[in-house]
Amino acid sequence: MRGMESGSIDLIYLDPPFNSKHDYSAPIGSKAAGAAFKDTWALNDIDVAWWGEIADAHPALYKVLEATKESAGKSMMSYMINMGVRIIEMRRILKNDGSLYLHCDPTASHYLKIALDSIFGHKNFKNEISWKRSTSGQKGSQHATKKFGHNRDVILLYSRDSRHAKFNPPKRPLTKEESDEKFNRQDPDGRRWKDDSAHIWRTPGMGARPNLCYEWRGFQNPHPAGWRLSKERLEEEYQRGNFEIIKKAGGARRLIRKVYESDYAGENIGNLWDDILPVQGEEDLKYPTQKPLQLLERIIEASSNEGEMVLDPFCGCATACSAAEKLGRKWIGIDISAKAYDLVRSRLRREAGIEKFTKGAGEVIHRVDIPRRKGTRSPCLKDVLYGRQGGNCNGCGEHFRYQNLTMDHVVPRSKGGPDADDNMQLLCGHCNSIKGGRLNMAGLKTRLMELGVGNRNG
Ligand SMILES: C[S@@+](CC[C@H](N)C(=O)[O-])C[C@H]1O[C@@H](n2cnc3c(N)ncnc32)[C@H](O)[C@@H]1O
Repeated sequence: MRGMESGSIDLIYLDPPFNSKHDYSAPIGSKAAGAAFKDTWALNDIDVAWWGEIADAHPALYKVLEATKESAGKSMMSYMINMGVRIIEMRRILKNDGSLYLHCDPTASHYLKIALDSIFGHKNFKNEISWKRSTSGQKGSQHATKKFGHNRDVILLYSRDSRHAKFNPPKRPLTKEESDEKFNRQDPDGRRWKDDSAHIWRTPGMGARPNLCYEWRGFQNPHPAGWRLSKERLEEEYQRGNFEIIKKAGGARRLIRKVYESDYAGENIGNLWDDILPVQGEEDLKYPTQKPLQLLERIIEASSNEGEMVLDPFCGCATACSAAEKLGRKWIGIDISAKAYDLVRSRLRREAGIEKFTKGAGEVIHRVDIPRRKGTRSPCLKDVLYGRQGGNCNGCGEHFRYQNLTMDHVVPRSKGGPDADDNMQLLCGHCNSIKGGRLNMAGLKTRLMELGVGNRNG
């Protein structure tokens, strides 16, 4: 992702490892046999330079990661460092009106949400979606004597900039019972409708709109906030029969807004998604943790338009790629597993009829090189040292911000110490000034003891 251009992606969906402490592999004999990934994390699994990079460029995220270590330990912090450096890049490559959906579960969703808040900004948080991922035989139900079973995943939705993010609200059709209950009025010609008169005028809380305050066919505007529609639109809708004026006894008149069953687009979908079943039947490639196509279709339709670019940086067996292809979007899938590419190819052949896979100019281009981009910040030695020392001064052992630690030669140059990486360390300003070019490390530590400065490093 570091090699991808800034502002080039419309929608990112990521379904990374969840820090589940399981190692996954596809069953022998299945289409996905050979696919495997581990989901246990330790400090050895991450590049220590990331820690320093985050400390330098993202102090807010750095604090979140430190708090994670305090509350959940080093494994969770390692996982979060791994995610943090990637989410920083994801924000950079998103377009201004782009969106990101992070699929996870309650193991780490609360830490990820704070990390996302610190990277995207809290005001760009849109939704926490709960997807009911299993029906019966719920994962975790074997422990149901000790706690409730786990049967939902969490999908966090953030926009790059909430003022501009595009959104096509997904709708769901009504059941017969819901329809009968909602469309409980009928015209003489049999057409069913519901009374939507509550939506004729803007509610006062919506704020005054002088251009929507007018008199129409003898109806005065009753609220300072005005009508919901402009005068022209209101007249148009009236002519279409979507508004009706009822004459009551005594000469009073009432205005009714009608929504016909045949015009109804469906119910808006909330943030509880219990209508999408887990992967099953033909669709199931037995790829570990494969997600259903229908889930990805909903996400892609809601937050991108035809021809736009969708990225899945942990694409697995290409569920997001296949859904994007079907919906006429361009797409990029990234996965660390070589097996994933075999699956992408066979799946897209089968589901989308794509034949041409090449390393250069096919319908689908397969790259194994790392893209390069001008202006990438490469991790530097200071980043590595900061990560290795855990942000602590190598002299007094106290913790410091990245900017407050400076590079120092362990064996001073004046005593023949080389510039080699293994002769470098980070010291705070105080230790650096005591050590100067005269003392070696043993001398510095003795001097610190004399001064009574705490030394957690021993
Ligand atoms: C939860 S699965 C994704 C499943 C996918 N949504 C699907 O429907 O098939 C996570 C994927 O992340 C991949 N992965 C793990 N670490 C990665 C990394 N550092 N970079 C890219 N992919 C990685 C794994 O190989 C695995 O395919």
